Amino acid sequence: MEKFVIHGGKPLRGEVTVSGAKNAAVAIVAATILCDEQCILENVPEISDIAICVKILKEMGAAVSFTGKNTLKVDTRQIKNPVVPYELARSMRASSYFIGTLLGRFHDASVPTPGGCDLGDRPIDQHIKAFNALGAKNENANGVIRVYADHLVGAQIYFDFNTVGGTINAIFAAVKADGLTIIENAAKEPHIVDLANFLNSMGADIRGAGTDVIKIRGTKFLKGITYAIIPDQIEAGTYMVAAAATHGDVLVRNVIPKHLESITAKLRMIGATVDEFDESVRVYVEKPLVKTNVKTLPHPGFPTDMQPQLSALLSICEGTSFVTDDIFDNRFRYAGELRRMGADISIEGKVAVIQGVKELTGAPVKATDLRAGAALIIAGLCASGITEIEDIYHIERGYEQIDEKLRKLGADIRRVYYNNAEIALSV
Ligand code: EPZ
Repeated sequence: MEKFVIHGGKPLRGEVTVSGAKNAAVAIVAATILCDEQCILENVPEISDIAICVKILKEMGAAVSFTGKNTLKVDTRQIKNPVVPYELARSMRASSYFIGTLLGRFHDASVPTPGGCDLGDRPIDQHIKAFNALGAKNENANGVIRVYADHLVGAQIYFDFNTVGGTINAIFAAVKADGLTIIENAAKEPHIVDLANFLNSMGADIRGAGTDVIKIRGTKFLKGITYAIIPDQIEAGTYMVAAAATHGDVLVRNVIPKHLESITAKLRMIGATVDEFDESVRVYVEKPLVKTNVKTLPHPGFPTDMQPQLSALLSICEGTSFVTDDIFDNRFRYAGELRRMGADISIEGKVAVIQGVKELTGAPVKATDLRAGAALIIAGLCASGITEIEDIYHIERGYEQIDEKLRKLGADIRRVYYNNAEIALSV
């Protein structure tokens, strides 16, 4: 087992380069199943969710390999067995993307119910609604979801609410349906635009990605291409918040500032200074940081994937902040861990009430999910004393070399191996 050990209180200073976007990369790697030739994907983050996607493709018979740092060569023409292995599928939410892509290509997909961060109930009823609209049937037995169709025909799909995964899966199946599909109330996240750009570069006909209405005309042949994945706006935001929390001065490179607008606006409201350049942002602090209120919203609103990180920062900002996140059932499981470090945070339904304290103190804590883990790292970086974060496998799912990147910014963070049995024995 591994944990991060952080000696806090050191301002982050210097430059950090953001990797490719996790939530774009998992969708685009799955989308190679729809391609009729070989693809080369660049700026692919080397994180565990991608490693699982690669394993799933290989298990089904595809030829997949990293040909250089962050460059993945994928040829899915040899896939014969459209069945995703159980244990791999249940370790991440993105395994649901193999339903849409296998359905689009083989008209038959059997995928174990997806797993991923425990943020409360995460059904895929909207995904199924989209598949049914295109003419597919579905059954759910033994923990496996099977979706199949004699024929996929373009249709009108109206989502009951914004769903990133539902929108992506609807695109996958519609790209291979006959005729026109119109998706209404579509999610607008940057990774949906990136996926549409990838598919259109292969020859698909997708219009309106990034808006509420996406129109897709089915395409028979999708050619192989070389494609570079967009930078990860959540990774970028995480380093921006860490720079503010440690009262540091950090240049975050390889970003698309437009994707960071809501994060930049919030940091400025708190009192941090954010200078924007063409492909980077600089975050530094010149005055005391103060409370703010935030409600997470689908893009372009403040992203739910940045909520835990911002809450960690607000725990040391003067005044009382209210953080509302009703996108998931429960995305506040980190609150108890922050309280171990001296944060004054209480959860009332979908709202975290955070009373800023002067200083957090280091403590042994556990990452409860990917972004909660990032929040605990931020808390550890600005706390006095030593913080030990266990269950860092959650963090490794979505942050490429986070400890190395932080050390380059002057953080005292070490990866320590430990054996649970020893701890049990030492009790
Ligand atoms: C994607 O999850 C991201 N994951 C999440 O990022 C992100 O938090 C989320 O979008 C919102 O932006 C990936 O891209 C792999 P949703 P997804 O469908 O697709 C409910 C991270 O930290 N819902 O927009 O699962 C759902 O339970 C991860 O990188 C249904 O009820 O999000 C949730 O409450 C965490 N039925 C809400 O809608 C459905 O059929 C939004 O879910 C689908 C969703």
